[in-house]
Formats: sequence, C-alpha cells, structure tokens
Amino acid sequence: MWEDSNMIHQDLQEALNSQINQELTAAYNYLGMATYFDAQNLDGFANWMYRQHDEEQAHAMKLLRYLQDRGGHVELESIGSPRSEFANPMEIFKISLVQEQKNTASINELYALATRLNDYATKSHLQWFIDEQVEEEKSVEDIIALLERIDDDAAGLLYLNDKLGARSAEEEEA
Ligand code: FEO
Repeated sequence: MWEDSNMIHQDLQEALNSQINQELTAAYNYLGMATYFDAQNLDGFANWMYRQHDEEQAHAMKLLRYLQDRGGHVELESIGSPRSEFANPMEIFKISLVQEQKNTASINELYALATRLNDYATKSHLQWFIDEQVEEEKSVEDIIALLERIDDDAAGLLYLNDKLGARSAEEEEA
C-alpha cells in the first residue's frame, strides 16, 4: 500500500490540535478582558484586547490550516468560559503575561517534538510562532511596566488608554 511519507505523526497531530485549542482559549480569554475594559469605559484598553483576540484567532487558523495541508485531522475541543471580572488593569495584564509565557512554553515543546520526529516542515512552520512569542511577551511586559509607573494616577491611565487605542490591524500586519 502506498503511504504518504509526508504524513504527519500522530503525536504531532495531537499536539497541534492541543495548540489550536490553546490559541482559541487565549483568544476567548482576551475577549473577556476586552469586555471588562469596555464596561469600564476604557476603550483604548478594550481596543488593544480586541486586537489581541483577533491575533490569537489568526494563530489558531494558521495552525489549523497547516495541519490540514499536511493531511492531518483537525479535532476541535471545547473552550471554557473566560473571566470578565477583574480587580484592575494590572491584574489583567499579569494574567495575560502568564498566559503568554505558558503559550511560549507549549510552542517550544511542540518544536522539540517536531525535532525528535525529524519533521522539518513543522519546525519551519513553528519558527514564526517562536519569533511571535518574543513580541507577544514583550508587548505585555511593556504595558505592565507603564502601569507600574502610573500606579493610581488617573491622567497616566488615560494616557495609556489613548496609546493602546492607537493599536490598529494594519500595525499587526506590518
Ligand atoms: Fe498566540 Fe499570544 O500567542
């Protein structure tokens, strides 16, 4: 029987499906955070979170299409309800940072698995995600640093709100 030598390994298929779920969960979590900021009338923060939601969805789609291109089977799993109540912006960005760090760790594990299985195409595809995670963590860390400086200063918070409101879809694609 003819076998496609390029067929993706079962373990990698499972790990990619799990990563797709993780990206979609992250998207949903950011959406919950966006609605919190909207309710607080912090539309710039909300804008940043809506963009973040869109980005995570795009990450999931990138992996999903890749898995399909490799003849793999996509299995969509359930996603839990996101939180939409928080104490303050700082809490939200700290949660976001932990989420991004976990995502970096799981992308790295995926890469290590692809390396063990000598799957060069998957390694190549994952390289983009490895680079992206550096940016993702840095952007959240930068906002945390600004929030620390702002502390309880309302003018500072509104300044940051304006700044985050300027994040656009075009900027992401640049
Ligand atoms: Fe899809 Fe925030 O990593």
